Amino acid sequence: MRKILLGPAVVCVIFVTFATAQRIELTIDPSDPGPRIDRNIFGQFAEHLGNGIYGGIWVGRDSRIANTRGIRSDVVNALRAIKVPNVRYPGGCFADEYHWRNGIGAERAKTLNPNWGGVIEPNTFGTNEYMDFLHQIGSEAFLSINVGTGTPREAADWLEYLTTDQPTDLANLRAANGHPAPYKIRFLGLGNESWDCGGNMSPDYYLSQLKIYSRFVRNFNPAQQTSDQMLKIAVGPGGDEERFTQWTETIMKGWQDHKWSWDMQGLSLHNYTVVNWDKKHSSVNFGETEYAEILKKTLEMGDLIDRHAAIMDKYDPQKKIALVVDEWGAWYAPLTGSNPGFLVQQNSQRDAVLASLNLNIFARRADRVRMANIAQMINVLQSMIMTDKEKMVLTPTYYVFKMYVPFQDAIFVPVKLDAGTYTKGNITLPRVDAIAARDKNGKLWVEITNVDPNRAVEIDLSTIGTTARLAAGETLTAPKVDSVNSFEKPNTVTPKPISAKAQNGKLSLDLEPRSVTVVAVE
Ligand code: AHR
Repeated sequence: MRKILLGPAVVCVIFVTFATAQRIELTIDPSDPGPRIDRNIFGQFAEHLGNGIYGGIWVGRDSRIANTRGIRSDVVNALRAIKVPNVRYPGGCFADEYHWRNGIGAERAKTLNPNWGGVIEPNTFGTNEYMDFLHQIGSEAFLSINVGTGTPREAADWLEYLTTDQPTDLANLRAANGHPAPYKIRFLGLGNESWDCGGNMSPDYYLSQLKIYSRFVRNFNPAQQTSDQMLKIAVGPGGDEERFTQWTETIMKGWQDHKWSWDMQGLSLHNYTVVNWDKKHSSVNFGETEYAEILKKTLEMGDLIDRHAAIMDKYDPQKKIALVVDEWGAWYAPLTGSNPGFLVQQNSQRDAVLASLNLNIFARRADRVRMANIAQMINVLQSMIMTDKEKMVLTPTYYVFKMYVPFQDAIFVPVKLDAGTYTKGNITLPRVDAIAARDKNGKLWVEITNVDPNRAVEIDLSTIGTTARLAAGETLTAPKVDSVNSFEKPNTVTPKPISAKAQNGKLSLDLEPRSVTVVAVE
């Protein structure tokens, strides 16, 4: 028996046995609650990339697709159901070449999108449309400002345009564009991947940019001066390259020595699940080996976070700075026939399992990881939703986000379990993964992922201190690891009700292979 401590918070203990038990004991310990699982870890990302915005969100006011002020209604309704806490926008690499004035007013400039297929950017979806979209889905703004090709003045003007209630020229312009009241901007990203597509900056160079942008890009909204203050997120590391240790060290040390005149509240981390960047896995028609390879890779997220969190702990032991995993998810080869610059991929049951494993990794580290954004929300990479003109389909990943809604802002509760192992070739993974949490109404929730694609598992569920009498909720599985929801067959992978059997004073849950399950325990 090997004891593994997951995460610096040490609130979760998993006992791993190497036997291949068909029954697994899972004990929830509500006596030792952990931190709040910030709802912002369920954040989304919408970049001007492929059909992420155009076609996916924006169809225009004159479209025959049902819309409100140009924003498609089917997508809005689907997103409302998963309670999206924030949407990062307008990029990504796009953000560092975006000039916000092109996207306001009656006349919109036609520009280029050199990062993503070199297509024409019509700018018909801009600042006011983004804020309207957030309003329609009930979400908060996470604006990524242009540090690559913009200026502090341009970014400061954008925030003045958005947030001041004083009758300045920029506020008058906002009013003329239909929104007299100031907007709320909750999160501000200061650049994107500045070590790469955002300008190939050295850590020291970026740190000096960070100080300037943090100082001058102000939020003037009176409602955000004492509460709901805007949180500034600095560019942090990306992936597991050695150079990123230096990056995190430099930014965190810089912050530790910071003066009154600048500050930050978050450090971003980008990490995609890719086994080989030069020969990416396919998102369709793959087998068990590719399933195991991708899940092995995705589980590296935990160690990566721990490495950077340990550096952050040195400079910020009180954990004032959040680690913001604002780009994560699976990145596969482009679908045959699609524009490679549009990053179109399918979304399978493998992605549902991958999503739950990552969300659990974040939840176990909720003391430091207080925000995350899956890439990307619609039609791009590991999306929630795919659209094709008037058609829309919800992906397996969408259903995972829907099932996890009870975990938003719930209090982490430790679980103990005999995880067992699942082996394919030379890859061995924990067979089962689980988290638990108590929501604000006192209800206890548990999520259990059965990673094993071949074997069902029977979970013996108990809670320390009380007798669990009932567990019921939903389970998501599929006929095969590569099962997808298509426009033709949209319901191949959808959640089904599940409930536990009461047996010998314990609850017993039968979980299908390759499944994600969320139940409330009473
Ligand atoms: O999500 C796609 C791209 O991946 C983003 O634009 C960039 O930040 C990252 O490299």
